[in-house]
Amino acid sequence: MGVGISRWRLTGSVAAAGGVGTLAAQGLGRVSDLHRPDAARKWIDPHGIDTLAHEVRAALELAGGQGLVAVNVMVAISHFEELVRAAVQAGAHAIVSGAGLPMDLPGTVGDADVALIPIVSSARALRSICRYWEIEYGRRPDAVVVEGPKAGGHLGYKEEQLDDPAFQLEAILPQVAEIAATFGGFPVIAAGGVWDHHDAARLAQHGADAVQLGTRFVATDECDVHPHYKELMVRATAEDLVVLRTPVGMPGRVLRTPLIERFLAQDFDRFKCHFRCLSVCDAPKVSYCIADHLIAAAEGDPDGFYFAGTNAVRVERIESVAAVLDAVDPRA
Ligand SMILES: Cc1cc2nc3c(=O)[nH]c(=O)nc-3n(C[C@H](O)[C@H](O)[C@H](O)COP(=O)(O)O)c2cc1C
Repeated sequence: MGVGISRWRLTGSVAAAGGVGTLAAQGLGRVSDLHRPDAARKWIDPHGIDTLAHEVRAALELAGGQGLVAVNVMVAISHFEELVRAAVQAGAHAIVSGAGLPMDLPGTVGDADVALIPIVSSARALRSICRYWEIEYGRRPDAVVVEGPKAGGHLGYKEEQLDDPAFQLEAILPQVAEIAATFGGFPVIAAGGVWDHHDAARLAQHGADAVQLGTRFVATDECDVHPHYKELMVRATAEDLVVLRTPVGMPGRVLRTPLIERFLAQDFDRFKCHFRCLSVCDAPKVSYCIADHLIAAAEGDPDGFYFAGTNAVRVERIESVAAVLDAVDPRA
């Protein structure tokens, strides 16, 4: 979870407890500006490439050889290849990539021993990736994340599809599982709206081999975001969840704040593009800088963009990573 939410401590803690912790690569250079207020730094590492390597190593150390440390790099990020290579060199076990189709990911990692996990919202997207990877690189995904419309952050759906039964995980999973089986049978990981082992068991019946959680991990002791973010999650009600289009070109689900109210009323501030962090963002044409507002949220600024999934309404307290993992584990 970017920007600055799934950092080394949350990632390493999930891995240490036996899970797959996923570190978000986007915007780390700018997050570190705020955590380490040293003005020169932003000119040294604006795209967070060195910071990412540092965070991956810290997560691996905390994991202590348990679980796996994955890195999420969005295809829409302008320094995608450099970030992927930095993560691999630092020892990441897997690269998880969505917000676009990661067509050339196998070429970027070459012969490195790292698992490649695309994120998709449809069977069609997975089929395109599998066909292309097989023809161009002789490689298949090591797993796939299927993100349904209840997830937090950017959503790979049109707004009118979000509540449509045909686009819910239960409908999409069997189709994705069929493609995964056709291309060698790799694990299918369901994400979006998973709260506990009841959800995991239900999704398993539709073809999921594993589940991924986002929102519930924001409100953990180990998550590095400002306490205000966690408090907003605890207080959130259904009326607080808003979907709006972001400069990434996709709908994003966020918590309602005064800033979001203003944006919904088409009242935007002037802004300056610092680093062109998104290859898909055309600063003169978009209404606001998403990176600025995501970083503001991680820092607890009321003017932040607080990404959250529909499960935010179920968050009642701040808990430990171990408690979240126990809740999704049917054996616990
Ligand atoms: C605060 C937040 C930030 C997120 N940021 C990213 C991101 O940077 N990249 C990404 O691929 N997915 C991102 N996601 C999606 C999550 O990785 C995950 O798939 C999804 O939230 C799972 O659904 P859940 O939140 O209902 O558990 C984000 C989700 C949240 C809640």
